[in-house]
Amino acid sequence: MTDIKRIGVLTSGGDCAGLNAVVMSVVNAATKFGWEVYGIHDGTDGLTNRPLSYEILTESNFSNTPWPRLAGSYLGSLNTGVKESQEVLAKRFGEGVRELGLDAVVVVGGDGSMNIVSNYCKMACVKMVGIPKTIDNDTPLTDYSVGFNTACQVCSNALDDLMTTARSHHRALILEVMGRDAGHLAMHSALAGFADVCLVPEIPYTIDGIINKLESIKQSGRTSALIVVSEGVKTEKGEAVTTSVNMVGEKINGGIGEYLSNLINANYKGFQTRVTKLGHVQRSGTPTAFDRGLAVVLGSEAVRLLSEGYTDRMVALTHGEVTSYPLEEVVKAGTAGLDANSSYIKAARAIGMYVGEEI
Ligand code: F6P
Repeated sequence: MTDIKRIGVLTSGGDCAGLNAVVMSVVNAATKFGWEVYGIHDGTDGLTNRPLSYEILTESNFSNTPWPRLAGSYLGSLNTGVKESQEVLAKRFGEGVRELGLDAVVVVGGDGSMNIVSNYCKMACVKMVGIPKTIDNDTPLTDYSVGFNTACQVCSNALDDLMTTARSHHRALILEVMGRDAGHLAMHSALAGFADVCLVPEIPYTIDGIINKLESIKQSGRTSALIVVSEGVKTEKGEAVTTSVNMVGEKINGGIGEYLSNLINANYKGFQTRVTKLGHVQRSGTPTAFDRGLAVVLGSEAVRLLSEGYTDRMVALTHGEVTSYPLEEVVKAGTAGLDANSSYIKAARAIGMYVGEEI
């Protein structure tokens, strides 16, 4: 059992569809225990900046409002790195938590946030439960993170839309999708959108391999093709394509689609190529039924854990079952990339998709 009376909830890292449904679930489940819920604004900023930025959340924030049905984060989120030291931020975070009288915080975040915020919590002796979310699906130990399924839907819808124009103009259209250094989003979307080629950071490829696939499509009499490439894919030689960095000097992915398009056009005349870089629309879209369900299940599970005195854990869906792991184990597991021997890759190869070279 627990002596919790008030908790905080925050969303951290890149936003995605389903975050508001998670927060609703946390608020509603916590309210059943008679706890107060403070919604922290803009990720950890709401607790590390002064004045503190938060609002008291009740069921009325989400019932009878469209919020749980919308993408984005009602509370605001943050995914730019910070230049201040972890120690300074952890101290301010802890002071913020104590000033608000929070007995624990629920952190909705990806692998980066689980790492950073659990570190703050450890240093500041704050109880935390994590809930995985990210369109990249690279949070370890969980089958799915909230937001991934909706992002796949957005990407496969884009492939449906591209197919018709590709056919009209006899083109090979390239769709560059997000995912950071993990190929989950690209591969799931390519399978759902019936792409002909899918390149992911985890598997090496050759331009000849792509061109051979395009030529075999042409020989079969088909007049168009679809190529999906994950933003984290590098050149054939393994060099990063992107040169841009954000405000704090971190790499911003993007540009591999144009790079491939130029190379294919220069070496193959069978199809003209064009590139669509889908960008941040992948973080939006109407949350799918799967993401809403996952949000409700994981949000309520986080509260259940706290109510039974469990803390410093991340809730997860593993092999279809709701469970949880110590945050230390999650952080140690790092980032979960796409397994090059996964059923998804095998299925893609089995239906003739070019997904890079056999490794
Ligand atoms: O981690 C989520 C994600 O959308 C990645 O797929 C992408 O590389 C990155 O965030 C984009 O970040 P930003 O919003 O800073 O451009």
